Amino acid sequence: MGKDTLTITDNRTGKTYELEIKDGTIRSLDLRQIKVSKEDFGLMGYDPAFTNTASCRSQVTFIDGAKGILMYRGYPIEQLAEQSSFLETAYLLIYGELPNGEQLDEWEGNLKHHTFIHENIRKLLGGFRYDAHPMGMLVSMLGALSTFYPKSKRIRDPEIRKEQFYRLIAKTPTLAAFSFRHTRGLPMIYPDNDLSYAGNFLNMLWKMSEAKYEPNPVLEKALDVLFILHGDHEQNCSANAMRSVGSSEADPYCAAAAAAAALYGPLHGGANEQVLRMLVEIGSIKNVPGYVKRVKEGELLLMGFGHRVYKNYDPRAQIIKGIADQVFEVTGRNPLLDIALELERIALQDDYFVKRKLYPNVDFYSGLIYQAMGFPVEMYPVLFAIGRMPGWIGQWVEMLDDKEQKIARPRQIYTGYQKRDYLALDKRVPVADKAAVATQAPT
Ligand code: ACO
Repeated sequence: MGKDTLTITDNRTGKTYELEIKDGTIRSLDLRQIKVSKEDFGLMGYDPAFTNTASCRSQVTFIDGAKGILMYRGYPIEQLAEQSSFLETAYLLIYGELPNGEQLDEWEGNLKHHTFIHENIRKLLGGFRYDAHPMGMLVSMLGALSTFYPKSKRIRDPEIRKEQFYRLIAKTPTLAAFSFRHTRGLPMIYPDNDLSYAGNFLNMLWKMSEAKYEPNPVLEKALDVLFILHGDHEQNCSANAMRSVGSSEADPYCAAAAAAAALYGPLHGGANEQVLRMLVEIGSIKNVPGYVKRVKEGELLLMGFGHRVYKNYDPRAQIIKGIADQVFEVTGRNPLLDIALELERIALQDDYFVKRKLYPNVDFYSGLIYQAMGFPVEMYPVLFAIGRMPGWIGQWVEMLDDKEQKIARPRQIYTGYQKRDYLALDKRVPVADKAAVATQAPT
């Protein structure tokens, strides 16, 4: 067995350096000693989109993308989906261990006490247009919560921190449901704390004139499992946003709003919305081969396929396929399912997808379930955000308590102009547009 070091020879200078290898990584900062002259800044790594850079040490979530393994705090996602509840999993993600009975009761009790939102938040929501996207509303309302809980800025105080865990997890479904009812012009339904987390969410979404809303137990359970499956996914785009914004010591509401904003994009949590739109556009099984051809020609992406980390079947997609069957027994089969199954069948045997290791991800089937349950597509990323909240919190806490972390601040390779003198207005050459100016800079 050799040494856990890496020897680098800089061919510019002929000098050799020995860098420590720990946990399969070298420290990028160790590269800085590699210089061509005293004035040289030192060598850096260039890694746009962090495709091969570990930004932290983490104990929250483990993924083996090649084998299709996902574990929260060491517990396989399959076991949690089958045996745990979302609130218990939320506790696990944040505190690192499953709660005992007493801890779980206390945890659930505290969460139930924080489901209501300040009436002024409800009024703020009323200011949005009738057709506002509920994810845009959720992002705004999460940020707005910061102004209602100014103490939350005391991020190092464990008791104050805990209060924000309760509020963020308990109020997100309320904000989500209120955003949905706003788009429908329906009166707001206040939380019913007799119901489960998922059951109360369904109540706030769908209750009309009945005295007491009774959620369908199959749909209630399905939603709870879907929340578990979305609980965390290590250093994805939104977790990275939570950590990055949180690293400036912004309060957790602002950090969570940033994380939700990152999730909103169609390449992240917005993908399930795009999957549904894609299936509707395809319209029929007979159009699937033509659609796949367009994807292969680079005209389109097959939404819900591919993943930065999974180069195998996303284990969450497997579990979701099982839930879909249970949900469809209650709601009736979603006719788009046949198109999805055919797309998957064709893609999984096509060289284009096989070569690139493109498999269905979590978003491929979740949208079909949400649609069958009556959610409009705009609500899909919102549902994702509810499930992801404990993961964001777990990542945020870990970042704050990590002595090695500082304010996040990547480096750049400057490719712009070197110093040049200011030009008087009459000396400037007209340029076609701003984008052209940007691309004219020397590289
Ligand atoms: N359809 C068609 N081709 C694809 C797809 C897709 N969905 N995804 C990747 N590819 C192709 C790329 O064009 C590229 O091909 P090339 O090598 O010929 O250039 C190759 O596969 C590698 O893809 P990358 O874009 O380099 O992979 P990356 O890791 O950067 O992207 C991502 C991952 C963003 C998820 C991408 O697969 C994608 O856009 N998928 C569709 C959107 C989606 O479903 N997002 C949800 C992800 S899960 C989540 O966030 C919860």
